[in-house]
Amino acid sequence: MTVLRETSFPNLSLLRRGKVRDVYAVDRETLLIVATDRISAFDVVLPNAIPEKGRVLTALTLFWLDLIQDIVPNHLITADVARYPAPLTQFARDLEGRSMLVRRALVVPFECVARGYLAGSGWKEYQKTGAVCGIPLPAGLREAEKLPRPIFTPATKAESGHDLNVPEVEMARATGAELTARLRQLTLAVYARAADYAATRGILIADTKFEFGRAGGEVLLVDEVLTPDSSRFWPASEYAPGMSPPSFDKQYVRDYLETLAWNKQPPAPPLPPEVVRRTTEKYLEAYRLLTGKPL
Ligand SMILES: Nc1ncnc2c1ncn2[C@@H]1O[C@H](COP(=O)(O)OP(=O)(O)OP(=O)(O)O)[C@@H](O)[C@H]1O
Ligand SMILES: [Mg+2]
Repeated sequence: MTVLRETSFPNLSLLRRGKVRDVYAVDRETLLIVATDRISAFDVVLPNAIPEKGRVLTALTLFWLDLIQDIVPNHLITADVARYPAPLTQFARDLEGRSMLVRRALVVPFECVARGYLAGSGWKEYQKTGAVCGIPLPAGLREAEKLPRPIFTPATKAESGHDLNVPEVEMARATGAELTARLRQLTLAVYARAADYAATRGILIADTKFEFGRAGGEVLLVDEVLTPDSSRFWPASEYAPGMSPPSFDKQYVRDYLETLAWNKQPPAPPLPPEVVRRTTEKYLEAYRLLTGKPL
């Protein structure tokens, strides 16, 4: 078991500490993304680390990037620490299995979400308006119901706080109609490939979020891909519309936090050891089920 809550690599310039990833600038064109074992819930980083989580996020991202590489080019240069440039190799022990050397991109400031089922913020919006991101849906759908066809529901990447679902036209106004249409098509194509594959492993991908960026005139898929942090994975065997299925994402942690009197503002309360242990198990289980082998 490895656990890493925060990295600090002397001589490397830390570009950004996200909720989960620490991002370093290697040179003008190259970033080092390190997935730590931090976990956030309700957009607040929790005091505990979840052992193995960063390794699961990294390994799953690599798995999916390989499976979808013919659909869209991506930012990965290598995740093989032995091939990292010299200044990084001295940190090999911390980087092994939880980092990726990537092409630095100008990230499109919208989360590109694909939804195949009605869950989370999509379900909330549908109950209020009968639509999601301005896309009208048939009346009478139940929670977790499969949509007639997968939909593209962009959200703004809020600098702080919660992401906000927006109509596609709003994304088009900000980033251009052509790019928006292309990102919709890529988002739905990657989702379809992944959902078809996951179905063969007994997993439903209810929804997932991608980020894209531009580098050297190319549109690249960046960030993490189809992990439990960016997606809702449901066991197909326990799926039934009308209720929220158990999932391999952070729902277990959220459910625990909901039992407390916490107001969801920082600082977050600590998780008991049992909750930490079971969360590690859920991440490892998601990896094992999806890839067919243990991490
Ligand atoms: N190739 C890339 N070029 C530039 N930035 C990237 C690239 N890949 C990922 N990023 C950025 O790196 C950051 C990854 O950190 P992380 O996901 O932890 O941050 P966050 O978005 O604050 O957290 P969360 O995803 O939990 O909301 C994101 O801001 C993402 O947009
Ligand atoms: Mg992120």
